[in-house]
Amino acid sequence: MKIFIGVAWPYANGVVHLGHIMGAYLPADIFARFQRLKGNEVLMVSGSDEHGTPITITAEKEGKSPQEIVDRYHKINSEVMEKLGISFDLYYRTSDKNHEKVVKDFFLKLWNNGYLYEDKMLLPYCPSCKRYLPDRYVVGTCPYCGYENAHGDQCDNCGHTLDPKELINPRCAICNTPTEFKESKHIFFALSKLENRLLEWIESKDWRDNVQKFTTQFLKGGLKDRAITRDINWGVEVPLEGYENKRIYVWFDAVIGYLSASMEWARRNGDSWEKFWKDPEARHYYFLGKDNIPFHTIIWPAMIMAHGDLNLPYNVIANEYLQFSGRKFSKSKKIGVWMPELLENFHPDMIRFYGAVNMPEMRDFNFTWENFIDTINDLLVDKFSNLVYRILSFAYRNFGEIPPRGDVDDLDRVAIKTIMNTRKNMDEYLENAEFKNAIKEWLNLVRFGNTYFVRKAPWELCKNDRDKCGTTINICLQLVQALAVLGSPFIPYTSNRIWKYLGNEDTVFEHGWNDSIKNLKPGTKLKEPEHLFNRIETDEERFEKWEQVDIRVAKVKEVNNHPDAERLYVLTLDLGTEERNVVAGLKKYYSPEELLGRDVLVIANLEPATLRGVKSQGMLLAGDDGENVALLKPVEHVEPGTRVMANGVECFGEKTLKFKKFKKMKIEVVNIDNKVVGEKEYDIDFPLKEEWKGHQGVIFHDKKPLILHVGEILITPDKKIKPGGQVR
Ligand code: MF3
Ligand code: ZN
Repeated sequence: MKIFIGVAWPYANGVVHLGHIMGAYLPADIFARFQRLKGNEVLMVSGSDEHGTPITITAEKEGKSPQEIVDRYHKINSEVMEKLGISFDLYYRTSDKNHEKVVKDFFLKLWNNGYLYEDKMLLPYCPSCKRYLPDRYVVGTCPYCGYENAHGDQCDNCGHTLDPKELINPRCAICNTPTEFKESKHIFFALSKLENRLLEWIESKDWRDNVQKFTTQFLKGGLKDRAITRDINWGVEVPLEGYENKRIYVWFDAVIGYLSASMEWARRNGDSWEKFWKDPEARHYYFLGKDNIPFHTIIWPAMIMAHGDLNLPYNVIANEYLQFSGRKFSKSKKIGVWMPELLENFHPDMIRFYGAVNMPEMRDFNFTWENFIDTINDLLVDKFSNLVYRILSFAYRNFGEIPPRGDVDDLDRVAIKTIMNTRKNMDEYLENAEFKNAIKEWLNLVRFGNTYFVRKAPWELCKNDRDKCGTTINICLQLVQALAVLGSPFIPYTSNRIWKYLGNEDTVFEHGWNDSIKNLKPGTKLKEPEHLFNRIETDEERFEKWEQVDIRVAKVKEVNNHPDAERLYVLTLDLGTEERNVVAGLKKYYSPEELLGRDVLVIANLEPATLRGVKSQGMLLAGDDGENVALLKPVEHVEPGTRVMANGVECFGEKTLKFKKFKKMKIEVVNIDNKVVGEKEYDIDFPLKEEWKGHQGVIFHDKKPLILHVGEILITPDKKIKPGGQVR
């Protein structure tokens, strides 16, 4: 079957963000890759939408020419698509001469077919800027939903297309002056002629709810003819006399891009565009964000009807929005996640995986960094990537090749069945463009794989029954192969890596959907695998060592001499909820009176030690510069039992800390002024309180240096010692 996939063209007036990707490009690409795997002939196109007021307004704001703006963003956005692995057959642009020619031809065809006519209309005019105000140059209140910043051609809030005359209280978007209305002649598209045909056509469809409902509703409101020319000098020229100072409306121009890009692709590849556009069996799918619905379900189909002999959309798939921490994406307010930066920091498959799992198919989805990192670390890295690596590395080390499958037991049979079912279920979901459900199925197979591997425990089997172990590994590798092939629409780069580890010389993309379940050939040499992904480091993970300690403020309740050691005290400490005995070698430095009643710091989860016959349940922390020893304490009194913080994070060590491990940790006394200096100068990634300056502080060395405190209160040695002194 032939499948044409058109993806809405982003305006080349800015950088695409994650919302664009999850809303349109990623679902389209998953679909395209799936259809190719199924053996269908796919043509997927999109490109930069480079005309109209979105571009000219940006250009005016930046003091650049429109061409400079579109050149800049076309380059950036093409690179994003490429890096992310969006497998366009052509990512075109509407400022290309060949596109402009196709638009003019299309226009004339509609003119000759009697669907275009000239008429006069009243248009908003700004007396202060002395110009007509097309589309985004005029704002006003939407008559449909009451939104106050609707544009002259569409309300961004409810999605309704508008005629500028309909706006309530229209004003100039540049200078805010209330507009006047002046007469001007324009070319109109006779949408009203097509109303009934469109209605019938829509009613024959069974599209995703949001698309179907919006469109039906829209059509029931009646279709008005719309002007398709504008008083603007940036865009495709109108191929009629007397229109030298006007241009074709950007939307009329842009949707024709689907056709012009197909023609351009055919021209560049010596192929035929007609087979996609004229063969009635070819299916046309469109992917877009919800604000683009009316242009793809009404305007573009109407244009195609008026043109004649071109295929209408077979399905239009629109996603809802991605929100960023509860707010709508906004370029001016810098709310959003921009793709070039995202791609600099994360593997494209991480982004694609996250995008698929959380795709805003039915309702808006709220993006947070926490969720982004958790989803990737938990599902993609811990569950999937670790499983695949465990299986591949076990197989490689113990067999070096694909082992034969011997007798299978019940669990093996379940495994084989689960692989088969996953393929079948994902097939149905993907055919229906239900991407979230599809990846859920895939994740279920990952989950099953983990269970199977652990229950079979091949590392045990291998000790005494190598054949059985081989059978298990054979099935595990079948599962890995299935994950690679079925996962390839979602995480193509990673799928292909796995494909190679399985001993294949070609790429996974040359294979079909059903190769996910083809029987592996025993004896095929495996390649040495590497980890597929590393976990994304989070801020918390930077506190790797700090997580392991439990340091508390304690109060000295009793001081006794050690019965058998001259230099040692046995102290009884109050830790709030409990009392503990701690042995400390402090006699040389502190008298019992000096110790009694004071606040100290104790490391509370250290493995207990017996010192000369007395059990010590913890250790006091003191700085030591070689001459002096100074106990650590909070600058002000703090309740016994309070946990100490490092850069604002409470210690939370729960497990017993081995002495050996503790000895490797480095804690150091520093001077705090405008700089923090110990053995050397440290950059502390935490706001230092004004009142800490002039004091000595204590640094806990983790991946970065952390300053110790309790809330606002600094941890300090109780007498000055040399900075750089070590705490023990
Ligand atoms: N540039 C439009 C937008 O970002 C979408 C155009 S889709 C096209 O909203 F098909 F018309 F190009
Ligand atoms: Zn509205």
